[in-house]
Amino acid sequence: MSKIGTDLLVAKEFLQKSGVVAIPTETVYGLAANAFDEGAVVKVFRIKNRPKFDPLIVHTDSIEKISQFAILENPQLIKLANKFWPGPLTLLLPRKEIIPDLVTSGLPNIAVRIPNHPLTLALLSELNFPLAAPSANPFGYVSPTQAKHVAKQLGEKVNYILDGGECNVGIESTIVGVENGKPTIYRLGGLSVEEIENEVGKVNLQIKNSDNPKAPGQLTSHYAPGKPLYVGELDELISKHSSKRKAIVKYGTNETRKSEGDIEFQLSEKGDVNEAAKNLFRVLREIDETDVEIILAPVLPEIGLGKAINDRLKRASVPNS
Ligand code: TXA
Ligand code: MG
Repeated sequence: MSKIGTDLLVAKEFLQKSGVVAIPTETVYGLAANAFDEGAVVKVFRIKNRPKFDPLIVHTDSIEKISQFAILENPQLIKLANKFWPGPLTLLLPRKEIIPDLVTSGLPNIAVRIPNHPLTLALLSELNFPLAAPSANPFGYVSPTQAKHVAKQLGEKVNYILDGGECNVGIESTIVGVENGKPTIYRLGGLSVEEIENEVGKVNLQIKNSDNPKAPGQLTSHYAPGKPLYVGELDELISKHSSKRKAIVKYGTNETRKSEGDIEFQLSEKGDVNEAAKNLFRVLREIDETDVEIILAPVLPEIGLGKAINDRLKRASVPNS
C-alpha cells in the first residue's frame, strides 16, 4: 500500500489505533494523532524530535465539539471563532481534564483550531476525538506545504500521509488568546492582524523571543532552511555576499544585480503578499535542493500576510545578520 493517498478510511483506521497520520490543512500539513490518547501523542513528539515543553494545537471540525475538551466563553474569542473558522486561526482556551498534560505541556490553556480543508474536515467529522497536530516537519525546520514534503522528511516514520494537494495559505495559523481581558496575538500567521482587528478592535502583540515562550514557534532560529539565510535590501546583500553562490528570493519584478551562478526564486511576481505566503516554504525547500551557498531574501511590505512572512524570514535567518 502506498503511504501517500486520499483514502479517508485508511487515515481513520490508523488514527483509531493510536497511529500517526499527516493531514492537509489550508496553512501547512500537520502530523496528527488522537488528542485524547497520550500514547499516540507521544509518538508525534518523537517523530518530530520535538521538545516536550512545546505544546500542540488540537484540531476539530465544529465549535460544538470543542466543549468536550476546552472552554470557549470569552465573547471576543467567540466572535473570532464565528467569523474565521474554519480557517487559519488558533485560539488559546482554558482546557478540560480529558486532555493529557503532554498535549498542552502542562499549561492551563489549550490551542484549538478548525482547519479549512475539505479532506481533513471530512476526516474529523468521522472521528470521535480531536487531532493533536503540530506542523509535519522535523522540529525547527520549514513547515511542509505539500504531501511530498512530508514524505521526504518523515515518510518512513508516519503511518499514512493524506494528500490534500498544495496548501492554499502556506504559512501557519495566527495564534490568539486573551491577556488582561484583551485579545492578544502570540504568533503572526495566515490570518492577518488587520482582519482580526476589524472584528475585535485593537489587539496586543506578544510576538517575543524569550527563553520560556508562550508559543515556542516564536523561538529564534525556527522555521529555518538548511542554508544560511540573510534578509534585507537585496542589492546591498548581493554586494556584501558577492563571492558566494546565491539563491535570490524575489518579490515583484525589480531587476537584481545577480552574478553568474546565482539562481532567482520568485515569491510573487505581481507583488501579492497572499501569493508570496503560499509560495514561501516551497521556495525555501527548493533552494535547499540546489547547490547554492546562501539565501538572500527581501523584506516584504508590512501589510496583510507580509507581516507574518517577514516574521518567518527573520526567524529563519542568520542571527544579527
Ligand atoms: O497552521 C498551523 O497552526 C499548523 C497546522 C498543522 O494546524 N500547526 C502548527 O503547529 O503550526 P506547530 O506545533 O508547528 O506550532 C504550534 C505553535 C507552537 O509555537 C506552540 O508553542 C504553540 O502553537 N502552542 C500550542 N499549544 C499552546 C498552548 N497551550 N499555549 C501556548 N502556545 C501553544
Ligand atoms: Mg511548527
